[in-house]
Amino acid sequence: MAGKVFFSVSMSLDGFIAPESPEDLMGRQWMELQQWIFPQRFFRENLKLGEGGEEGRDNDIVRETFERTGASVMGKRMFDAGEQAWPQEAPFRTPVFVVTHEKRDPWERPGGTTFHFVNDGIETALDQAREAAGGRDVRIAGGGATILEYVNAGLIDEFSIALAPVLFGSGIRLFEGVDAARVALEPVRTEPSPRVTHLTYTVRER
Ligand SMILES: NC(=O)c1ccc[n+]([C@@H]2O[C@H](COP(=O)([O-])OP(=O)(O)OC[C@H]3O[C@@H](n4cnc5c(N)ncnc54)[C@H](OP(=O)(O)O)[C@@H]3O)[C@@H](O)[C@H]2O)c1
Repeated sequence: MAGKVFFSVSMSLDGFIAPESPEDLMGRQWMELQQWIFPQRFFRENLKLGEGGEEGRDNDIVRETFERTGASVMGKRMFDAGEQAWPQEAPFRTPVFVVTHEKRDPWERPGGTTFHFVNDGIETALDQAREAAGGRDVRIAGGGATILEYVNAGLIDEFSIALAPVLFGSGIRLFEGVDAARVALEPVRTEPSPRVTHLTYTVRER
């Protein structure tokens, strides 16, 4: 059976998922946005940041999101930022399909991640990811522009947002340009944790 297509991001209370400039990615706002995930045991072990860490619902959510993902799709700007920031063993450990205009050979990393660069659009990238995922789910990893393309094309089944108690004021807004006349949401669950509020929705066409 085909898996679901989903995304899962951290979002500021005023709707942003990243600062405008990649130079600010390691800045205060980004750290506050992601502060819930850095201490989690699964996150730390997957990125080889060290032993130990928090266990609890936040940690379970990080692990469950990783385990359901058979392949990921991401935009080139997210890849560019990650290429600098991820360790040699990139944390995906599955195939990753990067939608881009740039032609580039696949980039295989130790630990199971191979980045494939797809030049003919989001549907081709998704087809390749579905094939590679072998029945598990496909994660549209980000960033905002790429997620929005998939939402507006009606290709997202479900999404989760870790709503962080931080205000950005400006930056990359998750739903900037959404085709609101077409997209309808149904709430699946709301899970508060001490650090963030996890919101999950299914998506359908109006
Ligand atoms: N808060 C979170 O949980 C979270 C999660 C993921 C990412 N992020 C952040 O999101 C930011 C990046 O998001 P973004 O919205 O700026 O960019 P993005 O979606 O990562 O990448 C957009 C770029 O991807 C390529 N692209 C997208 N669709 C394409 C298509 N149909 N055909 C060909 N190329 C296509 C284009 O690059 P080219 O033309 O150069 O090829 C485009 O400029 C990063 O700062 C990242 O850290 C945050």
